Amino acid sequence: MSDDSYEISLGNFDTETRGRSNLDQVLFWDEQAKKLSWFKQWTKTLEWNSPFAKWFIGGEINASYNTLDVHQNNIAKKPAILWEGEDGTRRTITYADLYTDVCKFANALKSLGVRKGDRVTIYLPMVPELPITMLACARIGAIHTVVFSGFSAASLRDRIDDSKSKVIVTADVGYRRGSSMDLKGIIDESISGLNFVEHVVVLKRAEGNLQLGPKDSLWHELMKGSSDKCEPEHLESNHPLFILYTSGTTGKPKGVLHGTGGYLTHLNSTFQWAFDIKDSDIFFCTADIGWVTGHSYVVYGPLLHGATEIMYEGVPDYPDTSRIWDIIDRYGVTIFYTTPTALRMFMKFGDAIPNSFKLSSLRLLGTVGEPINPEVWIWYFKTIGKSKCPIVDTWWQTETGGMMLSPLPGLETIPLKPGSATRSIPGVDIAVVDEEGNEVGSNIKGYLVIRKPWPGMLLTLWGDDEKYKNVYWSKFQDNYYPGDYAIKDSDGYFWLLGRADDILKVAGHRIGTAELENSLVSHGDVVEAAVCGIPDEIKGEVIVAFVILKQDAKNDTDSLRTELIETVRNGIGPIATPQQIYFVTKLPKTRSGKIMRRVLKAIASNEKIGDVSTLEDGTAVKDVQDAFTELQSAVRKNKS
Ligand code: WTA
Repeated sequence: MSDDSYEISLGNFDTETRGRSNLDQVLFWDEQAKKLSWFKQWTKTLEWNSPFAKWFIGGEINASYNTLDVHQNNIAKKPAILWEGEDGTRRTITYADLYTDVCKFANALKSLGVRKGDRVTIYLPMVPELPITMLACARIGAIHTVVFSGFSAASLRDRIDDSKSKVIVTADVGYRRGSSMDLKGIIDESISGLNFVEHVVVLKRAEGNLQLGPKDSLWHELMKGSSDKCEPEHLESNHPLFILYTSGTTGKPKGVLHGTGGYLTHLNSTFQWAFDIKDSDIFFCTADIGWVTGHSYVVYGPLLHGATEIMYEGVPDYPDTSRIWDIIDRYGVTIFYTTPTALRMFMKFGDAIPNSFKLSSLRLLGTVGEPINPEVWIWYFKTIGKSKCPIVDTWWQTETGGMMLSPLPGLETIPLKPGSATRSIPGVDIAVVDEEGNEVGSNIKGYLVIRKPWPGMLLTLWGDDEKYKNVYWSKFQDNYYPGDYAIKDSDGYFWLLGRADDILKVAGHRIGTAELENSLVSHGDVVEAAVCGIPDEIKGEVIVAFVILKQDAKNDTDSLRTELIETVRNGIGPIATPQQIYFVTKLPKTRSGKIMRRVLKAIASNEKIGDVSTLEDGTAVKDVQDAFTELQSAVRKNKS
């Protein structure tokens, strides 16, 4: 099949937009920002005090006003969220309902002493109260920091402590794969001794009595006494909207801080361009709101556009593997946005399952979070999209706020190539460069960089401007470094080739190797640990750990393995569980002490060491080969 077969037009030919973005990038974003409702016009579009960008300076805006108030006169009765619980329970929340609940909860937060600029940690499962809490924070200018409810108490504690959240919002339980998770218990454990936490709001879901402590109040009690009138704060465009913690290359997660006006502008535009959103659409993004995809394309993007969306609490293969296709048919989903990991899993279940559903309402498909293999892309296109839906493969990051590379069927039609995120969105400047920062020729592998500030760009890392400069702006002069390898082909299409740094992508989740290694070393029997990712058919990558034990460590390696897995699950969360653990006596390192992950990776995946011509700083070819051979025999011994 030729590439041209993947050209699907939705009838949008707005060549103007891309043309204008090429003329003047700043003016272009100025025009895009005007599509939102501002209380006060900005005086300056961009202040670029490298590497800190401020967009729409002096402009005043509110994210909850733009997602709720603006819809009250025309689409108040339209469903905003069609929620489905794992057990099949359903709730419909209209734009009027959402508006009322957000105002009431905003007043509840105020009654607990939350003021503009205060942080509120949200540890909730995928229930409508999660976006309600986020928007209530946005309404009063509090900064929300959502923590994925699959993180452990220790991870949660780090995040609460770093953000110094005054108030926590949680639920008694979350449901997953038919069983319930004790979220309140995790909160209690994580805040013990953190005196700055003043209140915990608990959404009660399960039957029976809930033991409440002195800091606890119940969601529904607070809502009962709360007024449904709450004026939105007029916030300067660069007032922080949220902190979202994400794994970095150091041991500690980074608090990515996003502003308001720039972030909303980026989302408003990309949501329209990529998803071609129409009033009649039913949008379904499967991401958990605990990750950035959920923030940007479950909460802010769709609600800015007054869209109707599905929100599903639960896993895609419960109670059986047809759950997602069943949801699509029952609700008439028109736009479906998911991850390559989910697609690889669906593909493995076999075509008979999706083929037993109509899936005829679908008109546009999307993927995000990791590179998508061309064969999975083609399967998605044919089996799910019935060869009539364009696929938007969207590349972006927690730090970019919104999509940066993606086909944009809401704007223009281009031939799609399975496995390529195609081109940049209008108004951003992306290139592939070599180690020195020079742009490479077509089809040559290099580092992806972003050469100009963009509106969805993070403001900084929470409380750590220096780290922000070091992590993103020190590798290449005046260019943002996302940490990805890529090539640009001769048609100008980008192909993402995975992470170039010490970050793993397991089932699309970002996990830092340093964080994992710290966690393993926290076990009393471990001297040193090194982890790497190896390719996995479904999850893209899985974690393999190499561990050096203390001399007096216990001999029973089986029980040690179990303990180490427990240590990681308790320290980070189940998403970080290593799949294999090898006990070794030495780790391959460069002369400057950096772990040679390439060697680890080759051994763990049973491959040859490969090209050693571009060696890690100053390490001789022989050193790498020796390390490889030595470790290989140690691993063999482990296996036998
Ligand atoms: C990877 C998720 C290939 C990439 C929105 C990036 C992708 C990291 C794609 C950010 C894609 C995201 N193709 N790789 N379409 N989308 N990535 O912060 O390595 O969880 O740097 O944001 O995911 O992960 P994050």
